[in-house]
Amino acid sequence: MFGEFESARSQDRKSDLATRICSALRVHTTIEEEIFYPAYLEATQDTEIHHEAEIEHEGAKRLIDEIESTGPDDDHFEARISVLQEMIRHHVKEEERSSGMFGKARGSDMDLRALGRQLEERKLELKGESDEGGGMERMPAGGRSRGAGRDMRMRSPDRANS
Ligand SMILES: [Fe+2]
Repeated sequence: MFGEFESARSQDRKSDLATRICSALRVHTTIEEEIFYPAYLEATQDTEIHHEAEIEHEGAKRLIDEIESTGPDDDHFEARISVLQEMIRHHVKEEERSSGMFGKARGSDMDLRALGRQLEERKLELKGESDEGGGMERMPAGGRSRGAGRDMRMRSPDRANS
């Protein structure tokens, strides 16, 4: 979606894409903060990675708020989208590297299958609320039994880049 945004020409299209990017990222941050992050912290006691991820979410959410409360007319609209994209890219890289949150979660005794199901359920709930169907398929595949060891293999929200 970020990629589409970059190549979009009309203000309407940009505004529409920005809305979709923001609501997809809101779902992502909410389900992680409600379900995955607390479970991670409890299982690993790893405050360092956990807190850093929280702060990254906070930064992203601040930008999302600003993007949502302004619009393509705003002077800083495109700059915000572009910085948001960089932040998300960085965040996902951190989460997904082997020493990152998902890697450590896989090495812990967390019940990733159950968590995956919870995340999926909450995601559907939130999507229903925002009436936003598309975009962010960034869930642990745990609920869908895609084979051992792949439970926390979250699909990247960088799909938002394509
Ligand atoms: Fe995250």
